[in-house]
Amino acid sequence: MIETEKLQRVMSEVARQTCIDPACGARFDLNERLYVCPRCGELLDVALEGASAADPEQLRAVWTARRSSFAPRDLSGVWRYRELLPFADDAPVVSLAEGNTPLYDAPVSAAYCGLQSLTLKHQGCNPTGSFKDTGMTTAVTQALILGARTVVCASTGNTAASLAAYAARAHLQCAILVPRGQVSHAKLAQSLDYGAAVLELDGNFDDAMRVIRELAEDDSVYLVNSINPFRIEGQKTVAAELLHQREWCVPDHVVMPGGNLGNSSALGKGFKKLKDLGLIDRLQRLSVVQAEGAAPFASLFGSESDVLTPIEHPQTLATAIKIGAPVSWKKALRAVLDSGGSVLSVSEQEIADAKAIIGRDGVGCEPASATTVAGVKRLVASGVIGSDTDVVAVLTGHILKDTDYAINYHQEKLYTHDREPDKTKEQRRLAGTYSNPPARVKATKTAILEGLRRHEQEHSGEHRRKHSIDLPGE
Ligand code: F0G
Repeated sequence: MIETEKLQRVMSEVARQTCIDPACGARFDLNERLYVCPRCGELLDVALEGASAADPEQLRAVWTARRSSFAPRDLSGVWRYRELLPFADDAPVVSLAEGNTPLYDAPVSAAYCGLQSLTLKHQGCNPTGSFKDTGMTTAVTQALILGARTVVCASTGNTAASLAAYAARAHLQCAILVPRGQVSHAKLAQSLDYGAAVLELDGNFDDAMRVIRELAEDDSVYLVNSINPFRIEGQKTVAAELLHQREWCVPDHVVMPGGNLGNSSALGKGFKKLKDLGLIDRLQRLSVVQAEGAAPFASLFGSESDVLTPIEHPQTLATAIKIGAPVSWKKALRAVLDSGGSVLSVSEQEIADAKAIIGRDGVGCEPASATTVAGVKRLVASGVIGSDTDVVAVLTGHILKDTDYAINYHQEKLYTHDREPDKTKEQRRLAGTYSNPPARVKATKTAILEGLRRHEQEHSGEHRRKHSIDLPGE
């Protein structure tokens, strides 16, 4: 294992939990079991106060050397960057070799957005198929450090699947609270297979979050939603992995989906840390995209108010981000404002079309992730992003997380939510602008060749031009 023991000691000795409200400023021991500040109720942050003492060149060299090591911690794309983490060297690391997710050049998506190029950071390539794993490895490690027996979370599906897997690795009991009937089958199937107690709640994610926070007052359980600052610590290393993959070349703009807003908080924190350490010399803009029917953060950003107004009945087919009262909005707002980024929302049709376009790059993601490409397209159209801007869109979940959505889109059977009494079912149907439905053929060579010919015709350059997809090379 490649070690920088001296560096690590400098950093971990000074880690504290601190209240994010500067007017309170309360600080607590790293291993006090807390989720919010006991004095004022605000969120907590883990502060690594001594980290700036590190030498950036040495860090870069150590992290690069670890990419060729087979030691378990070095194989993890999170623990490889352990100098950024508030853990002692002998921490009981619970890992599934998370992180290590690819950066893809996406020319079709770029052309769709009106950009010369676009890069996708595919966090859906994590072990359980979503970015949650990068934070779950650290949160479940902290659960072991605290001696917890039972770990719990409220979830729209991905946090649950991730927690269930890491809890199984750590031999901890796991309970997950999910809104009944609002979680994709794939995500539920994962949690069941990993052995979690799956509790289906009558209500939405925000109800589940409220109940789980009450439950967490009980010392018998440890809560690992992103309110838990140790989740954020793991997720923040994605900033290091991304910049490392780009050989420390800072993009102009990073765009990500927003639900409960833990991930944008984490990436913002990660980028800032890299700058404080001297690993990068500037911050890129960080923008967050929400689904129109679940966009309290975008509404706040576009208003004069400095307080988020929750949405009581959030609605979107991107169920992962169907959230009306995001817990981490203050941290995320800080990250967006510090970077000069923006927050916007996109429609269900824009999400569905962007998802199909991402697929044409051979990548594929779940609906929530496609908000990013839809958001980039809007930001280019409104002139916020120039066509030559170096943009990275973060895809957060794998396409196999929600296959029903994809199948329905391609068969033009995707309907927006049913809380629109003034609309008929037909009016709620999303257009399959880039649909690619399966064709039924007879089991003969001629029929198959005819099917191929028809498919080629329907997906020709002419067809694309009709839909204004300016594909490279056409
Ligand atoms: N993308 C995917 C695929 C998600 O699962 C989530 C959140 C987000 C984006 C939004 O990230 O909440 O940090 O702003 N899923 C949570 C869950 C809520 O329970 O799986 P965020």
